[in-house]
Amino acid sequence: MLQYNLTEGYPPLRQYLAEELNREGIAAHENNIIITTGSQQSLDLLGKIFLNPDDKVVVENPTYVGALQSFSAYQAQYLTIPCDDEGMRVDQLETVLKNYKPKLIYVVSNFSNPTGVTMSRYRREVLQQLAYQHQVPIVEDDPYGETRYSGDHIPTIKSIDGGSGVILQRSFSKTIAPGFRLGFTVAPTEVINKLVAAKQSVDLQSNTFGQMVLYEYLRSGKLPAHVEKLREVYRHRRDVMLDSMQRHFPADAHWTVPDGGLFIWATLPEGMSSLMLLPDAVAQKVAFIPGNAFFANGGGDNTMRLNFSCASDENIVEGIKRLGGVIKRHTSQFPTALPAFLI
Ligand SMILES: Cc1ncc(COP(=O)(O)O)c(C=O)c1O
Repeated sequence: MLQYNLTEGYPPLRQYLAEELNREGIAAHENNIIITTGSQQSLDLLGKIFLNPDDKVVVENPTYVGALQSFSAYQAQYLTIPCDDEGMRVDQLETVLKNYKPKLIYVVSNFSNPTGVTMSRYRREVLQQLAYQHQVPIVEDDPYGETRYSGDHIPTIKSIDGGSGVILQRSFSKTIAPGFRLGFTVAPTEVINKLVAAKQSVDLQSNTFGQMVLYEYLRSGKLPAHVEKLREVYRHRRDVMLDSMQRHFPADAHWTVPDGGLFIWATLPEGMSSLMLLPDAVAQKVAFIPGNAFFANGGGDNTMRLNFSCASDENIVEGIKRLGGVIKRHTSQFPTALPAFLI
């Protein structure tokens, strides 16, 4: 426990995870798994092994800002694909793959950070086929998949057609505790070997003590009941927030209704800037993430990411009421219709 251990991670934990993945329809052996210091570390290591300066990465628009930070450290450039309520618009992907020959496609398939949107089964299949045809690896980032509290389960992209071109990463941060800093990546052994070499120069291995505690907890069989409780709490808080938004946000704002995860994504009238609202909102003790941070190549000024998982019912209701008030005050200072003489 207190000695150096394998860079790949604690073998019994990897064996346990491989068995779980197989039960889920993902063919995996422990040699296909590396334990990382949170799934965030995997993003950095993937950048390290795949990307040279100016290499292109396909991302959803908007996408997880932490992935952009990791890939940007290796001087990646982004090819952004718009999203709707079924996730990435894969109808726009083929031309991009043909014309730009990207190195990676990065996608958050379940309850995305920041939008809360889940990619439909059909789009997952199209994405997998296109990526395979054009020989571009998919990085499927799935830290939220276990948190579904409404709608039907959709299989991972990794489980479609053997998933050999898909690198799946998962995390224990959203189901057990982010403080453990433990996640794992599932990939062909060639990729795992490169990740191992890259990780050796970073931290040699993730904390063995934490991995052993995690393994004991997983095999105690207590996780499913805990996750069930999380789902109930999050579903309830989502509903409280959605209900409050309906009552307090302006009629011309709209937002996503997530089936899992931690976030609601709101879009304010075109031309508004959520960044400009932030100081007023913070003065009222309400914080949110301005949406433009999640757009790889700029844009999204009128969007915001709201989190409902951490606050009490009372704070959600009061916070949304205050935020709605701030938005409405800004909307009233903002010309929603062009003056007649300009039309
Ligand atoms: C989509 C996504 N990927 C990766 C991470 C990193 O999580 P961790 O390093 O805690 O596993 C997060 C954290 O919020 C996330 O939302």
